Amino acid sequence: MSQYPFEVIRARDAMRARAEDLRRDGRRICVVPTMGFLHEGHLSLLRAGRARSDVLIMTLFVNPTQFGPNEDLDRYPRDEQGDLRKAQECGVDLAFCPTDMYPEGYQTTVEVHELSKPLCGAARPGHFSGVASVVTKLFHVTCPHVAVFGEKDYQQLALIRRMVADLDFGIDIVGMPIVREADGLALSSRNKYLSDEERKQAVSLSRGLAAARGAFDAGERSAEALVAAAKEVVAAAPLARIDYLELRDAASLELVDTVTGPVVIATAVCFGNTRLIDNTVLTPPSE
Ligand code: PAJ
Repeated sequence: MSQYPFEVIRARDAMRARAEDLRRDGRRICVVPTMGFLHEGHLSLLRAGRARSDVLIMTLFVNPTQFGPNEDLDRYPRDEQGDLRKAQECGVDLAFCPTDMYPEGYQTTVEVHELSKPLCGAARPGHFSGVASVVTKLFHVTCPHVAVFGEKDYQQLALIRRMVADLDFGIDIVGMPIVREADGLALSSRNKYLSDEERKQAVSLSRGLAAARGAFDAGERSAEALVAAAKEVVAAAPLARIDYLELRDAASLELVDTVTGPVVIATAVCFGNTRLIDNTVLTPPSE
């Protein structure tokens, strides 16, 4: 458990000063960035962070710059009091809930060029620029040795790993597996928008990915066939509108024809106004 009294910090300069003091005292800092409305997926990251650090910082900030003009920024679910309670229960020492992230005159962004283009980047222009920029700021303010992210947002994790390597952040990036409901639906703050019928059909994402995995385990290596196996299951859900369902190299996210190394099958599917994402990594057994 935590050895520090739980604390909430809202100003960037106060957070930075505290982090610098902690580093001077030789403490190992872990940060878990979130946009709040915490569920078990977030909590699994906090627990992983707790096990890897002396001081665990959670950031809670619904970042406006990663939402498009027609996206759900205004209706993004919020529950700060509940989040702070859950964070404390998971051993968070410090919650950073900034109120001064983009002061007057702010104009700088970080671009991770190639990894931002496909998949969610194609459907959400500017999204990953917003993510890379805010994560950079959160890293600079919290000064972590290690940061934990979920594989649920696979492209986001790949891009942050790339950014940290390219720009010499010197932060250890830990990726954690997707936490799912009993029926396979990946936990997401957005699941609460689903109607009862949409919720039932939303299981088609994980079932589709499982069908592709089944074909892969049976020896299928053609990307086209693996994608078709997954699409057939997703498309059978009448309310599902597939945004993308693609098989790509697990690290570069480039398209692949035949699976010879680790790949990811990633999908985004809309149910009404709610856009869900999921993915699975397939790794051929080494010969
Ligand atoms: P948010 O959507 O709140 O997610 C915070 C972290 O929780 C991310 O690393 C995400 O991958 C992880 N996560 C979400 N659902 C998960 C699940 N079912 N299983 C495991 N991990 C899960 O991602 C963001 O916020 C923002 O883009 C952020 C990085 C905070 C920048 O604003």
